[in-house]
Amino acid sequence: MCDDLIAKHFINSALSHQLHQSPEGTTHFTLNPSGRVWLISHNTPTDFAALDKLDPRWTTLNSYDPAIVAWAAEWNHSAQHLREMKIDVSKDKIPDEPKLPEGYKMPSTIEAKLWYLEKFPTLAETIHKAGAQVFVISDHTRSIPKKVAWCTIIMDKETKKCFISTLEVLPDYRRKGLAQYLISMVARTWSATVEGEGTVWLTVFDSNVPALTLYEKMGFKTNRELWNIIRAGTIRRLSIKTDEWGSG
Ligand SMILES: CC(C)(COP(=O)(O)OP(=O)(O)OC[C@H]1O[C@@H](n2cnc3c(N)ncnc32)[C@H](O)[C@@H]1OP(=O)(O)O)[C@@H](O)C(=O)NCCC(=O)NCCS
Repeated sequence: MCDDLIAKHFINSALSHQLHQSPEGTTHFTLNPSGRVWLISHNTPTDFAALDKLDPRWTTLNSYDPAIVAWAAEWNHSAQHLREMKIDVSKDKIPDEPKLPEGYKMPSTIEAKLWYLEKFPTLAETIHKAGAQVFVISDHTRSIPKKVAWCTIIMDKETKKCFISTLEVLPDYRRKGLAQYLISMVARTWSATVEGEGTVWLTVFDSNVPALTLYEKMGFKTNRELWNIIRAGTIRRLSIKTDEWGSG
């Protein structure tokens, strides 16, 4: 199993996961629910002959590895930057409990998880395999309360990394501070859990301005950027300069 938390998330988000073992190293092949192949490789030598055998119509690549990105760049298809961002948390400085806007409440973690599994049944395996925790916000200003915002996290106590794997606020409920509240709760929960220093991680596409603005406002810093390259997609094309990458 890959020890990179972000790769772990992608792998856990997949219906099936295969490791391709070549004499040089391991490449992760995963199939997401739509049948698209995701390749994830992290600076391990790669068997390009094996990659070339994949069905080109269904290949999406996520990689930090300049050699693999250079290989995929030859497809000359759409590509975008996916940023890996993080903030530091510490047991010694647990942030104050954030305030929810009036009329909103957080159900218990058990209720949140049951609701999430009911709403996204195809993600049940992902949630169970990754041991994810779910945070939800309900609107109690309505006669029947409604769940309007949620996020899921994967925690790794050994590396003290917590990964925000999903975050969403329903369109009618945006710009009320709900996402900021959820992330603050995650940071608070994680600082209370780790011994000493820990980190909260997430990934975001550069094109997602609302999310990127939110994360920067909350102090997240870009750790490195990976490329998400789709062989038959429609996302804007960028020129690829692998020498611009952060060190990771
Ligand atoms: C990104 C998202 C989670 C933000 O949720 P939200 O509850 O509206 O965010 P908040 O109200 O907590 O915003 C806090 C701050 O983030 C920034 N922000 C949020 N939405 C923004 C937007 N559309 N444009 C610019 N800045 C924005 C602002 O600085 C905002 O503070 P302000 O309202 O005082 O100016 C929401 O737009 C969403 O669900 N998008 C679709 C799913 C998604 O992209 N998830 C993230 C995947 S990485």
